[in-house]
Amino acid sequence: LGDRIRAAKATLGDRAVVLGHFYQRDEVLEHADFVGDSFQLAQATKSRPDAEAIIFCGVHFMAETADLLSTPDQAVILPNLAAGCSMADMADIDSVTDCWEQLEDLYGTEQGADGRVPVIPVTYMNSSAALKAFCGEHGGIVCTSSNAETVLEWAFERGERVLFFPDQHLGRNTAKAMGVPLERMPMWNPRKALGGNTSAELESAQVVLWHGFCSVHKRFTVDQITVARQEHPGVRVIVHPECPMSVVDAADSYGSTDFIKKAIEAAPAGTTFAIGTEINLVKRLAAQHPEHTIFCLDPVVCPCSTMYRIHSGYLAWVLEALVGTAERAPEILNRIQVPQDVAGNARIALERMLAAKP
Ligand code: MLT
Repeated sequence: LGDRIRAAKATLGDRAVVLGHFYQRDEVLEHADFVGDSFQLAQATKSRPDAEAIIFCGVHFMAETADLLSTPDQAVILPNLAAGCSMADMADIDSVTDCWEQLEDLYGTEQGADGRVPVIPVTYMNSSAALKAFCGEHGGIVCTSSNAETVLEWAFERGERVLFFPDQHLGRNTAKAMGVPLERMPMWNPRKALGGNTSAELESAQVVLWHGFCSVHKRFTVDQITVARQEHPGVRVIVHPECPMSVVDAADSYGSTDFIKKAIEAAPAGTTFAIGTEINLVKRLAAQHPEHTIFCLDPVVCPCSTMYRIHSGYLAWVLEALVGTAERAPEILNRIQVPQDVAGNARIALERMLAAKP
């Protein structure tokens, strides 16, 4: 498969660019022209307007983002259409719209004396294009794990509060680090049967959190950190901000995959790291840094099952289809296209993010 991928890429030359997320398996990433987190891959998309095809080795919302940031003539291809994101699926446009309307009833829609509106919606990159469009339409913005604090600052300059979706943990960990007290970050709960939200907690809210989470990062625990510290005295524990707050609090530091990568690169040789993020990245960092000891905090490792759905067979399949054969005309398979009625506003929210962090 590796040979077939290399051959197809060589034939396509600059006509095709392969983007790969840090969480992809190594046998896929070895063919990527750009490797990075979702923010870096969004920038990479914009840097190659010459490529006719952008093959996105990541998950569906990332390919949607690439489509939004590419030119109309470019085709964005997701090698396996089943590569979704369970966290992104935890917030849908109907539920968020319903929440928004209830918050508007509560807070009103008028700007305050300081020019700020009552609520700014902020969506994590891990969300559908429809939710990005919702943010674009309602004065909001997109964030990634590498710029969440910058984006929340942007939002608080324009709004008295934030509605943050879908990842409760990234929202809570980031707002907490910025000094927002926990009691001012209620989780949106419209269901009275499940306790509901009290009007007092919503009235004093600075950040209203959605109930989404990442099934990989949710697995990391404080007990794992305790064991790592017992077994490896002096270990540095770094976790991702999609981990629960108790885990982030117990770690030495936390940050996006790019943050983790740079922290390891900057450490003196001989450092031991316990890392709380997706296993493909942890294993790759361990292989790239033999001068350190690097292991995953979770001993029963749970990979990101949707990132795993891209494998070399799918990559070879879509690349060879682009090349075509003597018997078969070139073909674009698995194209991801955001509908026009969603694309305009979604792009606005994304461009606000790209402008908030150059
Ligand atoms: C992303 O933004 O790509 C993911 O949240 C992982 C990360 O880079 O932290």
